[in-house]
Amino acid sequence: MTPQHEQMYRDLIQMVARSGVQDFLDPYPFRDRPQHMYRCYCWAERILRTRPDADAELTLVSTLFHDIGVIRSTPERLKADHDVLGGPIVREYLVEHGYAPEFADRAAFLVSHHQQRELIQAEGTPIEHVILMEADMLDERGALGIVWDAMAEGAKNAQTYAATLERFKQRKLYRCPERNPMHTQAARTFWSEKQRLHVQFVAALERDLGLAD
Ligand SMILES: [Fe+2]
Ligand SMILES: [Fe+2]
Repeated sequence: MTPQHEQMYRDLIQMVARSGVQDFLDPYPFRDRPQHMYRCYCWAERILRTRPDADAELTLVSTLFHDIGVIRSTPERLKADHDVLGGPIVREYLVEHGYAPEFADRAAFLVSHHQQRELIQAEGTPIEHVILMEADMLDERGALGIVWDAMAEGAKNAQTYAATLERFKQRKLYRCPERNPMHTQAARTFWSEKQRLHVQFVAALERDLGLAD
């Protein structure tokens, strides 16, 4: 992360904290929104290494702020429209911090449309938009997806290994092994790695539980 992006991340943490949204946004306290946005930034950085044709600054800034619209959430309207609501927030922040209005407009567009995942593999989607959406989908899958499921099951009153295994098996990574929704070669490889890890983990757990030889 550049020092400028580090400052942005600190500002982002403040914006989310001030909104108070973390108190009601998600039933899982470990699903911290700024941390999610930081992890997506890291995925975008990894993909960008293989795509010098993409505008790296635009991709990284948009990815870092992509879920900022959640600060407008209310207990009645949780994550609804957080993409559309986020566009003007990121635009205002960027202009206030010295970015050109044209750059801020492009970032706002990417943030406003980041939930349109069907566009990942559509022809004509700007590469920066593709990478943002890929990065968003790569987070909380694979190793982190397994940890999420285990922590969520562990928070229940009734905890069993069997229920946790069943939860792992509900993931699309397990149920749809032929599915790879990524577009760039780097992201497709990351997705395949996550899928392999998840499937192998389920198989190992089934053996550990005496359900397979
Ligand atoms: Fe989102
Ligand atoms: Fe996200």
